[in-house]
Amino acid sequence: MKGIIFTNFADFIGEAFGLVVWQNVLDATALEADGSYVGTMTYSDSEFMTLFSSACEHCQRDPIQMQLEFGRWLFPTLFSKSPAAVKLIDNLKEFLFSIDTIVHVEVKKLDPEAKTPSLNCVEIDENTLCIDYLSSRGMGYLAKGLIEGAANHFEQKANVIITPSDNPEKFKLVVTLHD
Ligand code: HEM
Repeated sequence: MKGIIFTNFADFIGEAFGLVVWQNVLDATALEADGSYVGTMTYSDSEFMTLFSSACEHCQRDPIQMQLEFGRWLFPTLFSKSPAAVKLIDNLKEFLFSIDTIVHVEVKKLDPEAKTPSLNCVEIDENTLCIDYLSSRGMGYLAKGLIEGAANHFEQKANVIITPSDNPEKFKLVVTLHD
């Protein structure tokens, strides 16, 4: 997992729950990287999962709720790092189509070590999109939180229904856009 996810998670916990809580999370967790992360570096997925579980315990949040809250919080930071063409998009629907076809493609071009989830997006009808999440990280609820953060950014009302599958790597996200 890229360092940018670690550094933002640290900032999120510090901001939402307090810096002391983040320090306690670090102190209570056996870490390879000693708790200091650099955005452009890559760290093991298991290091992130260990930190994430420890943070859930210290903050008394269940992992689903924590992924949702972190995703909503994270969106503006990731959006600010989007390719220039994507920053010109002014609506949620077009933006959601661009994640798998432009945003994450550009991320991997710039950084071949990045492993972004597959987020295939299909239009069901004018106001409904179906997004298939696939990633060994199994962080479908983080994707849901990010989509909700995106709706907020575009000032568009949207309802996101997530359905897990038998495979922990796959989730279905149905996004309904409202006027
Ligand atoms: C609603 C929009 C987005 C969704 C749903 C989304 C979804 C995700 C998820 C769930 C992850 C966690 C890793 C995983 O599940 O495998 C991730 C990783 C990542 N995303 Fe996105 N993303 C969005 C927008 C963006 C934007 C705007 C950028 C900006 C350039 C971005 C860059 C990245 C990067 C750098 C990673 C880390 C990859 C790694 O650790 O190897 N994403 N994305």
